[in-house]
Amino acid sequence: MAAKILDGTKIASDIRSEIATEVKAMAAAGMRPGLAVVLVGHNPASEIYVRGKVKASEEVGIYSEQHTPPETATTNELLALVEDLNRRDEIDGILVQLPLPSHVDAKRILMAVDPAKDVDGFHPVNVGFLSTQRPGLVPCTPAGVIEILSRSNIPIAGREAVVVGRSDIVGKPAAMLLLNANATVTVCHSKTHDLPAVCRRADILVAAIGRAGMITRDFVKPGATVIDVGMNKVSDAAEFQRLFGSGLEKHAQREATFRKKGSTLVGDVHPEVAEVAGALTPVPGGVGPLTIAMLMYNTVKAAKMRRQGSGARGEGSVGARSVLAER
Ligand code: GUN
Repeated sequence: MAAKILDGTKIASDIRSEIATEVKAMAAAGMRPGLAVVLVGHNPASEIYVRGKVKASEEVGIYSEQHTPPETATTNELLALVEDLNRRDEIDGILVQLPLPSHVDAKRILMAVDPAKDVDGFHPVNVGFLSTQRPGLVPCTPAGVIEILSRSNIPIAGREAVVVGRSDIVGKPAAMLLLNANATVTVCHSKTHDLPAVCRRADILVAAIGRAGMITRDFVKPGATVIDVGMNKVSDAAEFQRLFGSGLEKHAQREATFRKKGSTLVGDVHPEVAEVAGALTPVPGGVGPLTIAMLMYNTVKAAKMRRQGSGARGEGSVGARSVLAER
């Protein structure tokens, strides 16, 4: 039987309308959440992502502003910008879009963001809160993975979860969230021996590698839930053929798009996995839309924590006064 397709677009839209209601009430109480996005230079993919983030903010009623320093901006100039955003009371969330130009010390920039405004959840203070199960700001994409599972009534506790990829942005925090939700978690990477066999243990398989269609059917236990975090642009015709064949009715739409645009967006999971998995997130339309919805969620959460608390910063301030402590 074909896998159930988990509709991330629908789930994200539900979350965004819940957030819009909340933002309306906050704004009426004089507490409209505000998000500042910093985009350095002109990375085309980053420009598309940032546009989506700003547009989503507008749609849910969050105040947003974009800062676009040139490619040549120095670490010190960016530190000064972040410090200014840290100080401004109407800004609740600060997001510095990655990647930064190679001459910039990205770690220093991310460390400079006030942990209470760190809506990406990248600051070591928030990483520490996550790993010690204290409330804080959680990275958006992994939070979206959990949201898809829970809103699709897929149980996590007691089940085998395998995460492929160990990045700081996705793999590690996804593994931590699954562990916090009482899954038995394995994290795999490029040095893992017999990766397909390890993946076949999974009731929940999270693919966050960054290689188009790498997870083929032999990696998947029949009936498993497969969450595809990959976003890879495929523009090579042979690669397209490996993934989607040719002339297949079920891929007709994608083939037409590929012919027209010369590329298509593909996850880390091969389409044939739909014949084996119990449930599967599509690409596009799976985890992607959740990333932005969870950014909106984090911005509201940061606003509530900071403004309804004493406004203190630094150690303890993110978690101690959380009004969304159930997460
Ligand atoms: N670049 C790609 N994904 C992300 C993300 O989630 N946050 C930021 N800041 N940059 C990114």
